Amino acid sequence: MIHLSNINKQHGAQILFQNASLQILPGSRSGLVGPNGAGKSTIFRLITGEEVADSGEIICAKKTVIGYFSQDVGEMSGRSALAEVVAASKITVELGDQIQQMEAAMCEPMDDDALAALLERYGNAQEEFEHRGGYDLESRAQAVLTGLGIGPDEYERPVEAFSGGWKMRIALARILTLNPDVLLLDEPTNHLDIQSREILLEALQRFTGTVILVSHDRHFLRAIVNRVFEIDHGEMRVYEGNYDDYLAKSGRQTWAV
Ligand SMILES: Nc1ncnc2c1ncn2[C@@H]1O[C@H](COP(=O)(O)OP(=O)(O)O)[C@@H](O)[C@H]1O
Ligand SMILES: [Mg+2]
Repeated sequence: MIHLSNINKQHGAQILFQNASLQILPGSRSGLVGPNGAGKSTIFRLITGEEVADSGEIICAKKTVIGYFSQDVGEMSGRSALAEVVAASKITVELGDQIQQMEAAMCEPMDDDALAALLERYGNAQEEFEHRGGYDLESRAQAVLTGLGIGPDEYERPVEAFSGGWKMRIALARILTLNPDVLLLDEPTNHLDIQSREILLEALQRFTGTVILVSHDRHFLRAIVNRVFEIDHGEMRVYEGNYDDYLAKSGRQTWAV
């Protein structure tokens, strides 16, 4: 599903990865561990394309929807909680608009070639819209928000009226509503209160897609992952099995945080 091969990456003089390879299979739940500054967040930024490798290849299966959750929630304002969550599924919303426009265009007279081309674009758009869960986007956003403790009476409340901890829940709702094939979670529990942590944990246990989790939270790692990638001094090692298997096999106690 996601394939990184022979990745080399430096930041200035610092070598982060030397011929590092990593294969993420569909439905797998990987933990990504290593000391601070090892390059865990960089791996995510390479996968999302925010950063480019110096050399090597990154292959992502076609149409893979990636949800990326980091501690940096970014700015939120000018929308209601529900609108904020729906708007985060930007491509889905845009596809929905395009589908409507194409349906309108189909009512106008046009020649056969133009119609055939339009029908093909329409079919592709519909297929992707469905893959992204476009048909129930709004109801899914509502269900996710409610599950995170933001009920119907608060859907229309402006996002800026929520406190920091509740904004994190809205940020989580954005990602979960996206219906991603792959969830990249970068230290997701750092700014979550205990209740939100439990809600996230339950959501992840229900999530059937692929997960890559960077976390220092052992409770989380134990509950979620079934393999561990360790980054250490530019090298990447993979340990099959859960987090306790990894600790036993690697002989690690803890990373300096
Ligand atoms: N844009 C950048 N320019 C220079 N160095 C960077 C940049 N981003 C990250 N680094 C450095 O790269 C290293 C890896 O960063 P990061 O991937 O964030 O590590 P981790 O998430 O494992 O803590 C760190 O030493 C960091 O200082
Ligand atoms: Mg990091």
